[in-house]
Amino acid sequence: MQKVYTKVTDQLDFFQGNDPTKLAAEYGTPLYVYNERILRQRCRDLKGLVTYPHFVVDYSAKANSNLAFLEIVKEEGLEVDAMSPGEIHMELLAGFAPKEIFYICNNVSEEEMRFAIEKGVITSVDSLSQLEQYGRLNPGGEVAVRFNPGVGAGHHEKVVTAGKKTKFAVDAEKVDDVKAILKKYNLKLIGINQHIGSLFMDGKAFTQSVASLLEIAKQFDDLQFIDMGGGFGIPYHKEDGEAPLDLEDLGKHLDETLKAFAKETGREITFRIEPGRYISAECSVILSQVHAVKENHGKKFVGCDVGFNVLQRPIMYDSYHGVEIFRASEEKSEKEETVSIVGNICESGDILAKDRTLPEIKEGDTLCVLDAGAYGHAMSSNYNCRLRPAEVLIRENGEVVLIRERDDFADLTRHQISLKK
Ligand code: LLP
Repeated sequence: MQKVYTKVTDQLDFFQGNDPTKLAAEYGTPLYVYNERILRQRCRDLKGLVTYPHFVVDYSAKANSNLAFLEIVKEEGLEVDAMSPGEIHMELLAGFAPKEIFYICNNVSEEEMRFAIEKGVITSVDSLSQLEQYGRLNPGGEVAVRFNPGVGAGHHEKVVTAGKKTKFAVDAEKVDDVKAILKKYNLKLIGINQHIGSLFMDGKAFTQSVASLLEIAKQFDDLQFIDMGGGFGIPYHKEDGEAPLDLEDLGKHLDETLKAFAKETGREITFRIEPGRYISAECSVILSQVHAVKENHGKKFVGCDVGFNVLQRPIMYDSYHGVEIFRASEEKSEKEETVSIVGNICESGDILAKDRTLPEIKEGDTLCVLDAGAYGHAMSSNYNCRLRPAEVLIRENGEVVLIRERDDFADLTRHQISLKK
């Protein structure tokens, strides 16, 4: 096997002695490959974020809800958030106790809310009308409310979830209305939470938002926890030397803030964060095979099997993912070229990596799409009746195990009802 362009996976020792061209041949492509050592390390990075003693990391399972993945996160001692009954179901299956699950819902039916209440999962509501609904369903119960701290952040406008332009959360000015509904249904507000958006690389907006949230917290006496949300970024431009988030600096600021709050209020509240991407992105790559190389009107296209049914982030948010190149043969790439790497979906927008300058890519090469573990498989689909990819895990000892089978044709028709009975 030849490493044509493999800087990042080499640095990380991602494959731990496994040959990606062989993995691609054995399991077929596209293939999601996870590295357990890196996943566990990311869990530990965040568990050690602050020295403040009452601190819980809830992994945000929407980023990646693979069962084996959740089992590892559980083993690392993290708790989880959930966004739907389906996520609650997966998390219970993975071994999380109901009290280790925090259901942060948005515009849900009575049926969904009741599901969480009946399972004993703490629920956060994010509007006055949903607080009313909660009160009707579970009078006298314990609940959390998601507030908008007024500051948002994120890599794209579609993922900014606080500030003035978002559907999420209750505005800070509505504290009195919240109190009135709590009183009406004899509810106990045991937690408040926020999530300002997804992917910040410096902690300024986050620390600012925490300060606002703490001001809101001072207005409620029964709080047991304050959840500061997720959004911790990872560097997607690693091969260009983009630096990681400075966790040490962020942790130091946060620690000071949390300890000052405890001192000022005399309350030893539990603080939580709920990162998805930081835990899951960097421990996964997608292996893909190049099936065609062509030139259209002077532009070179490399055609592979990672369409946007496999990885939606580039088409959805113009997201960047590094791409590496492995080759089974010894044939050399003599030059660099600027190419667009595209998938096999019938839309012109199906571009995985636009105008990249890389060593010449040849048919049959194995491409390796970096940082694919967050919102990768979780957002994949059967569009064009394509089969969702298999997932394998490189265990800490280097052994490779299958953790999800590729879809088969039966998955495409599983819930369909033919008229030809
Ligand atoms: N908490 C709540 C309430 C959230 O809505 C989210 C993400 C998180 C935590 C975790 O955020 P993270 O730490 O992963 O940034 N599909 C987009 C990201 C959408 C994020 C949705 N909410 C992407 O691929 O970039």
